[in-house]
Amino acid sequence: MTLRLGVVLPTFNERKNLRGMVERLDAALAGIPWEVIVVDDNSPDGTADEARAIAQDDPRVRVIQRIGRRGLSSAAIEGMCATAAPVVAVMDADHQHDPALLPGMLAAIESGNHDLAYASRFAEGSSTEEWGRPDRVKASNLANRIANKVTGVELSDPMSGYFMLRTEVLRADAHRLSGVGFKILLDILATVEAPLRIKEFPMNFAARAEGESKLDRTVVFEFLVGLYDKWLGRIIPTRFALFGTVGALGVFVQLGVLWIMLHLVFGERFVYGNWDESTTFNVANTVAAVVAMTFNFVLNNELTYSDKRLRGLGPVLKGWAQFALTCSLGLLTNVGSAAVLKGMGINDVVAVIAGIVLGSVWNFALSNKFVWGK
Ligand code: GDD
Ligand code: MN
Repeated sequence: MTLRLGVVLPTFNERKNLRGMVERLDAALAGIPWEVIVVDDNSPDGTADEARAIAQDDPRVRVIQRIGRRGLSSAAIEGMCATAAPVVAVMDADHQHDPALLPGMLAAIESGNHDLAYASRFAEGSSTEEWGRPDRVKASNLANRIANKVTGVELSDPMSGYFMLRTEVLRADAHRLSGVGFKILLDILATVEAPLRIKEFPMNFAARAEGESKLDRTVVFEFLVGLYDKWLGRIIPTRFALFGTVGALGVFVQLGVLWIMLHLVFGERFVYGNWDESTTFNVANTVAAVVAMTFNFVLNNELTYSDKRLRGLGPVLKGWAQFALTCSLGLLTNVGSAAVLKGMGINDVVAVIAGIVLGSVWNFALSNKFVWGK
């Protein structure tokens, strides 16, 4: 009985869905030697424990529990690399993908006529049950159009999370996959060099069984980050680029708040009460800097570190305080290094820019380690 198919189920908080998924796989794959690899990112609901409990009675079930990591794409890649089966599938564990499609996909690949099979939500004959909000369908259509341009492959649904391919095709290029964001199929299409013969299967994208979706908010953002990572991530790491972009936006926030403080709050002639002009300015600028720093903290927490997002009042306040400390040290680095460079006779503008770059690197290194380090 040679293993023919590995099924990767990336999971985050899918404890209640898991047993049912394995039962449905068992029913759908009758007569086909298969294994399932649950790749769980240490879900707080105990998905990994549940997977191990199932595996004790069914050795076709394997578990990879990742600690301190998050991400659907990277989980899928690790799962796919972990199977000895010649063909591997990735699908959602929440019952939105129907396992009944697996035998047909497997037949397409084993026939030797196709390298990759995938299930499309937008092909002729597909349907979506409770896909949620219309804006998400729109976002998905837009993403599809861009994706088709990027990969040069015309697929009706390159963002699909349900696909199957020959494992050796994946392994040959696995080291070049970026593993960022949710668009793993797209990443494979854009990365694998051998021309792929693809077969599309229309699917009925069912409603999620239990629990909630993890990618509602930022599909489009994740997608753009994925594109960036693919093209420029090697030159300037994606996380640093995001951090830098947020920092640059913060500059405008600070200038804007400063303007508002001086013109609207402190009013006429920029003087407040019996303060002199420079005190007024310094107070206004301090407020502006704190607002900008808070803005940067929130944006970094939501976007740059969405995979390690601090949640709840306590952790957020603590993170904010650490970020404030980091930024103060960054500011010293910024101003200090500019002063040193200027002292060495270097051009003012160059010295200031070098200070900004060094300060940012410092901010990034510290926040990366201390604020969002765990
Ligand atoms: N290991 C791991 N780590 N698994 C994750 C993570 C993570 O950080 N985030 C989500 N998952 C798992 C979920 O537990 C589920 O099994 C599967 O990945 C899909 O996640 P959902 O949160 O249910 O995604 P969705 O239904 O909103 O999104 C669907 O559409 C996307 C395209 O718009 C899925 O089909 C995606 O695969 C697809 O890319
Ligand atoms: Mn889902």
